[in-house]
Amino acid sequence: MKTHLGNLNWRYATKRFDENKKISAEDLSALKEAVRLSASSYGLQPYHVLVIENEKVKEQLREAAYNQPQLTESSQVFVFASYTEVKEEYIQDYMKNVAETRGVDLADLEGYANMIKGASMTLPQDQQAVWTAKQAYIALGFLLNAAATLKIDACPMEGYNGEEFDKILGLKEKGLTTAVIATVGYRSEEDATQNNKKVRKSTEDLFINI
Ligand SMILES: Cc1cc2nc3c(=O)[nH]c(=O)nc-3n(C[C@H](O)[C@H](O)[C@H](O)COP(=O)(O)O)c2cc1C
Repeated sequence: MKTHLGNLNWRYATKRFDENKKISAEDLSALKEAVRLSASSYGLQPYHVLVIENEKVKEQLREAAYNQPQLTESSQVFVFASYTEVKEEYIQDYMKNVAETRGVDLADLEGYANMIKGASMTLPQDQQAVWTAKQAYIALGFLLNAAATLKIDACPMEGYNGEEFDKILGLKEKGLTTAVIATVGYRSEEDATQNNKKVRKSTEDLFINI
């Protein structure tokens, strides 16, 4: 636990990455696996995650992210792209996966499928999009945590034009939209913000014990 909290104190929202340092294939796989293992409501994972290292695409994304240097200096950009609406086929695909993975009959999952449909597909479309984006943010949390464990730097980011991101990445036609992003890599020695003290609510202020 001490190490874990030490890692969380070590991490910070990295402003300047060392562009010469790239994440190894093994570490990148571990980060992706942590994202894959994220919890999500009903286990639906109503999102896809783009992992971008193409320099030209990163340049375009930087322009659409108010020129924030992390977009090009980082090793990879993770784009958490959530479903713009919950379609029946997504729930069916998930049910098939459950049936195959656990060796149960698809027919026995009908009640579960109907419950998910009732809770999500009945929402107005904009609320469906809010719900799917919330699930993507949980996956972001898993990524940040795993990165800290592996001593990989990361910056969670909302400072970008979502419509432009969607256009550059061709997300709309896939029924997806950018929910949130994170850049990953290794901090530059010149990033002075790594020396900033963490600013957080005190334990007494943050927690309400009942
Ligand atoms: C959802 C989200 C969006 C953020 N967007 C940006 C961003 O666009 N650019 C940036 O430099 N930092 C961004 N941050 C980093 C926060 O400012 C930072 O996490 C916060 O100040 C706490 O500091 P720490 O993470 O360094 O401990 C974002 C953080 C989160 C969680």
